Amino acid sequence: LSTDTSRNVLISRPEPSVALLTLNRPKALNALNSALFGELNAALEEADEDGDIGAIVLTGSDKAFAAGADIKEMKDKQFADAYKSNFLVNWTRMSSIRKPIIGAVSGYALGGGCELALMCDILLASPTATFGQPEIKLGVIPGAGGTQRLTRIIGKARTMELVLTGRNFTADEAERWGVVSRIVREGSVVDEAVKVASRIAGFGRVSVQAGKEAVNVAFETTLEQGLKYERRLFHSLFATADQKEGMAAFTEKRNAQFKGE
Ligand code: CAA
Repeated sequence: LSTDTSRNVLISRPEPSVALLTLNRPKALNALNSALFGELNAALEEADEDGDIGAIVLTGSDKAFAAGADIKEMKDKQFADAYKSNFLVNWTRMSSIRKPIIGAVSGYALGGGCELALMCDILLASPTATFGQPEIKLGVIPGAGGTQRLTRIIGKARTMELVLTGRNFTADEAERWGVVSRIVREGSVVDEAVKVASRIAGFGRVSVQAGKEAVNVAFETTLEQGLKYERRLFHSLFATADQKEGMAAFTEKRNAQFKGE
C-alpha cells in the first residue's frame, strides 16, 4: 500500500500491519463528495489486497468524522441523473472489503458520515462524537444505509425517531444502544483503534476473514442458515495451517505464529 498523500484521504502505516485512512477535507468537515469516495474506495481496495496489512482504521478529524454527503455537490442533482447513475452505489463498495475496518469517530458523524461509520466493522468513539441522520431537514432521507443498518442495530422506535426528527445522538447513547463498541478517552480514539487493528492483524488472516464473514451473515439470513454457515466455515478452518499452529501453540504453552495459510 502506498502512503502517498492523496488529496482527500491520507494514507499512513502506524504499524506495518495496519493501514490508517484519514478523511481530509477539513474545511468542509469531511463532507463526502465523489472525489473523496473514489479515493477512499481505491485506498480500501489497495489495503485489502496488500498482504502485509491485517486490518484498516478509518478516521476523520477531531471536529468531524464526516458531516455527511456533500450537500453543495448534490443540491442541483435531478432525479434522472441520480437514478441513471445509481447515485451512492459506489459507497457500498466498502462493504465488500474482506479485512476488518475499525472506525475511530470524533466529532460529527452525520448523515452519510453516520452511514459511513455504520459500514465499519468495529466502531470506537470519542466522548465528543455526535451521530445523527439529519437528512429529513434537507427534504430527503438517508441514502447510504441509515434506515436499514440503524434499524438492525438499535431497533425500529429509536431509528424512526432519529430519521423522522433529525435529532442527533450522543456518544453515550451510541454506546448504550450498541452502535459503538466503546467510548475511549478524549484524544485517544485513533491510538485505541490502531491497537485494536494491530491485535487483529496478529491473528490468522484466514480465520479473521472468516470471523468477519460469519458475523456479517447474521445480518443477511435466518438463524438456521446463519448457524449452518458458521459451522461450515468453522469446519473449513481445520484445513488451515493456522489452526494446526494455534492449537499446537496452546498445548505447547507458547505464542502462536500465524502465517495466514
Ligand atoms: N456538505 C457540504 N458542506 C458541508 C457539509 C456537508 N454535509 N457539512 C459542513 N459543510 C461545510 C459548511 O458548508 C461550511 O463550509 P463554508 O465555510 O464554506 O460555509 C464548513 O463545512 C463548516 O461548516 P459549518 O460552518 O456549518 O460548521 P458548524 O460547526 O457551524 O456546524 C455542522 C457543523 C452541525 C456539522 C453543520 O456543518 C451541518 O449541519 N452540516 C450538515 C450536516 C448534514 O445535514 N448532513 C447530512 C447530509 S445529506 C446526506 O448525508 C445524505 C445521505 O444519506 C448520503
